Amino acid sequence: MAILKLYTYPDKILRQKCEPVAAVTDDIRRLMDDMLETMYADKGVGLAAPQVGIAKRIIVVDDKVSEDGEPGPNPRFLVNPEIIRKSEDTIWFNEGCLSLPGQCAEVERHCAVTVRYLDYDGKEQTLDAEEYLAVILQHETDHLDGILYIDRLSRLKRNIIIKKLQKQSGE
Ligand code: NI
Repeated sequence: MAILKLYTYPDKILRQKCEPVAAVTDDIRRLMDDMLETMYADKGVGLAAPQVGIAKRIIVVDDKVSEDGEPGPNPRFLVNPEIIRKSEDTIWFNEGCLSLPGQCAEVERHCAVTVRYLDYDGKEQTLDAEEYLAVILQHETDHLDGILYIDRLSRLKRNIIIKKLQKQSGE
């Protein structure tokens, strides 16, 4: 396995609509393994392929990562994930993103979602998720459509974060 380069704001790859994966091949599995290792190395709980420079519809998620970045027992690999049901109830959650380092903000999300996807073996699955896991799944599937959590904030809050990111990167 390998740790991949993380692409950060304002890289154009983060704004691309990603292509569906035609088949879950060994190459795709290798990519997913590397994405998971990259995510753990950065103490993340989710990572989408465009964040490692690949415009394909793939996400990896682990909602049970410990605070010091220790993997949970059940990391998830989701290929071509699609949210097929979402609750009307919403939840506010303090979100961060490895592509927007050092920043976070409260984002409104659906409380529960059902996601259909292909698993590590290419089998179709559905996953019912609530609260934390549901929030991660919404954040990561957004990435596949070029959407970042800052797009879901008021313009004022978004601009504050963008200014901080620009300052950080010395622009
Ligand atoms: Ni993110």
